[in-house]
Amino acid sequence: MNVKFFLDTADLAEIEEAASWGALAGVTTNPTLYSRIGGKLDDFHAHIKRICDIVGPDCPVSAESVAMTRDEIVRDGRELAAIAPNVVVKIPTMVEGLAATRALADEGIPVNMTLCFTVPQAILAARAGARYISPFVGRFDDISEDGLAQLDDVVRAIGNYDFSEDTVNGEQIEIIAASIRSANHVTQAALMGADIATVPFGILKKCVQHPLTDRGLESFLKDWEKVQNA
Ligand code: E4P
Repeated sequence: MNVKFFLDTADLAEIEEAASWGALAGVTTNPTLYSRIGGKLDDFHAHIKRICDIVGPDCPVSAESVAMTRDEIVRDGRELAAIAPNVVVKIPTMVEGLAATRALADEGIPVNMTLCFTVPQAILAARAGARYISPFVGRFDDISEDGLAQLDDVVRAIGNYDFSEDTVNGEQIEIIAASIRSANHVTQAALMGADIATVPFGILKKCVQHPLTDRGLESFLKDWEKVQNA
């Protein structure tokens, strides 16, 4: 398994820009991110399709169900999965969500189990057939807990076992470090062995940049001018 960057946004311009950099492996959206771009209910499926078209068939795109009962989540999940083959149904870690995850996984529909905060939640998600599990780092820090330690616990606990009999087509579960608030969160997630970091566009830009890279480039350009004028 290789470490990957997903973009945590519903903004098409950000997705287009990040995709053009050549290192984007997926997109995660949620109701807040969709609302932030002024998204409307009747355009939701079309919007997810636009995202899928931008990133291409090899990049998973998580689209969240906001239904609260297993039957409604399953219905939502089927509709979302029908948008494009790379749609992953995002479902909160709760009883109804677990039941819906099992039903969708049995139909071959991949699920990203979100709002995960503990190892037992992650294990239940894995046993229910989730293809991706998203432990939230920043939101755990927000309540004065240690989000990175919790991510580390989840990565190690899930890595201890083989859940391939539970997942769609026996695929390996991938842990998505979510609710990422800094480039350091990305560093730590990679050191812990998280499979994916899903990051807002601003943080992705910070991951590319470093002041010493800028300064080094500036001096190379200056010196190259000297070479050209010599
Ligand atoms: C991603 O799947 C999550 O929805 C997202 O990372 C949540 O981030 P936030 O806690 O910054 O809202």
